[in-house]
Amino acid sequence: MKVLLIGGGGREHALAWKLAASPLVTELFVAPGNPGTAQFAANVAIGVMDFDGIEKFVRKTGIQFVVIGPEDPLAGGLTDRLQAMGIKVFGPTKEAAQMEADKWFAKEIMRQQSIPTADARSFTDAGAAEEYVRVRDEPCVIKATGLAKGKGVTVCARSSDALDTIDRIMRKKEFGGAGTRIIIEEILHGPECSILAFVDRRNIYVMESAQDHKPIDDGDTGPMTGGMGAYSPTPVVTDAILSTIEREILVPTVDGLLREGIEYRGILYAGLMLTSNGPRVLEFNCRFGDPETQPLMMRLQSDLMEVMLAVADGRLDEVELKWDPRPAISVVATSKGYPGKYSTGVPISGIASAEALPDVKVFHGGTRFEADGRSVLTDGGRVLSVTALGNTIAEAQNRAYEAMKMIHFDGMHYRRDIGHWAVGR
Ligand code: AMP
Ligand code: GLY
Repeated sequence: MKVLLIGGGGREHALAWKLAASPLVTELFVAPGNPGTAQFAANVAIGVMDFDGIEKFVRKTGIQFVVIGPEDPLAGGLTDRLQAMGIKVFGPTKEAAQMEADKWFAKEIMRQQSIPTADARSFTDAGAAEEYVRVRDEPCVIKATGLAKGKGVTVCARSSDALDTIDRIMRKKEFGGAGTRIIIEEILHGPECSILAFVDRRNIYVMESAQDHKPIDDGDTGPMTGGMGAYSPTPVVTDAILSTIEREILVPTVDGLLREGIEYRGILYAGLMLTSNGPRVLEFNCRFGDPETQPLMMRLQSDLMEVMLAVADGRLDEVELKWDPRPAISVVATSKGYPGKYSTGVPISGIASAEALPDVKVFHGGTRFEADGRSVLTDGGRVLSVTALGNTIAEAQNRAYEAMKMIHFDGMHYRRDIGHWAVGR
């Protein structure tokens, strides 16, 4: 099968690596891809939001299956457009992608289905939001309801932080239209986990657990990022907790969508907090997580293409996935200044030596080739993710950091404590 993967981040490098290994895939194209995907697939210079360009390429090349990595094209309706051409797609439709693209839509589904989540109110008027914060006078979490690259959430310990956040999102429009509506919700406490499931309208296959580390600095401090590192499995998610999550969260979510006439197909990703009262939903995403995908793909032993085809064909109940029992961990290296302004075009060295270590893979994210077509430069905030397997989580962690030490670029930053939650247990 001729397959086109949309996206160019670390997640897509990891997905492309697994897809390229499938005997079902005869040719793999990635739009736009990155120097990592160029090692085993054909990169095509088309942006993820260039739907006309994608449609033309699909027709011209005779693509039979399209996998959509990032949320923006999903929220923009790329699935609908390709399906209308008769192409099989992995990824939810525009309507279904609202689970991520509109946090208030997701809250409404959760409310209808009594799915455990933080108590929340939504506001489109800054004055009313400010009034609510003043009267309530308690710590809260403020979220832009639209897509904000994982940065639209602020945990506010004091009312003054909350007022400042409302000002940034609603008056200064830091996230543009994504902040037209905000959610103000109660703060929850407990360890976090990311539970990703393949969903084909009715059938749900829950993957191994993972945990992301979103704040930029060690000890989970500093501003939120798209994700600074992840590992799988996470020991806090026991089998009992995982089945509670499936029963009380994932199944009723998919049912709630069906009730609204929405058939969900693709990845449903639940960002959860394991509170003393049980798991609570923080957010849903309509796609694989980045960087959670990197350790998950290191551990997945089954044919990813076979599973994706089963999802598209509505026969997910026929596939069984095999996972490497060994834990995997992924550490992200970022450009100086991220998640704020950062510069690009900085030369990167040491990737090949890092990858020569056993059970280590370096997934490219924000990188590009130098004009010579060989050396690699930085080209984004999250530059690359070093991913390692180990017999224990501590061993995987040591390996990932050993490999990371071999890589260098000016202004490189990475957290030194990815996996600390699991290693410390
Ligand atoms: P989200 O993008 O909604 O998953 O939020 C990003 C991060 O903000 C989460 O990974 C949590 O660390 C934090 N967060 C979100 N909602 C809450 C909440 N209600 N209580 C505490 N922390 C939260
Ligand atoms: N790692 C968080 C996300 O992909 O949204």
